[in-house]
Amino acid sequence: MIRDSAPADVGHNSFHVEVVKNMDQLIQIFALRAICFMEDTGLPYDHAFDGNDLQATHVVGYDGIEPVGTMRIRWFKDFAKIERTAFRTFTTAPFQYAAEGDVAIHACGPPGMLEAVRRIGVERGVPTQLALESPMACGFGACFGCVTPLAQGGYARVCVDGPVFAAAELAEVPAH
Ligand code: FES
Repeated sequence: MIRDSAPADVGHNSFHVEVVKNMDQLIQIFALRAICFMEDTGLPYDHAFDGNDLQATHVVGYDGIEPVGTMRIRWFKDFAKIERTAFRTFTTAPFQYAAEGDVAIHACGPPGMLEAVRRIGVERGVPTQLALESPMACGFGACFGCVTPLAQGGYARVCVDGPVFAAAELAEVPAH
């Protein structure tokens, strides 16, 4: 099934999420992950895909009819893991509506998308928390290899000062 229109009940918000139910949607989430993990982030193929894809629940997010984000959920005996979260870099549709209500933004994803979300949060005065990723050499605050620039000047270490930062704290989300 290839959808040619958004569901009728999405209202003014063009972003909606569906559980993957067919092969077309499975292809969409694989394409999204290839774009975000392999192209945007430069990860090798075997870091983006593994055999767990065939036993996981996948979710795909649409901006109108365009697939723009995905994640997978793996189920264990006592817990579930959310993994392989990816949003296309240009995608800020889920966050554009944040100024319309009493909401906060919590985001993780590729640096380009997080930088766009940071700007939206700061410009609109919406409480925004960003989970940053960074290559880490030491992981305990000694090497300063994971730093991110702060709005007030100076740097914070993602490994010990983060990884979650308020958008207003940051000067930008570095590409790393
Ligand atoms: S990884 Fe070394 S300071 Fe963060």
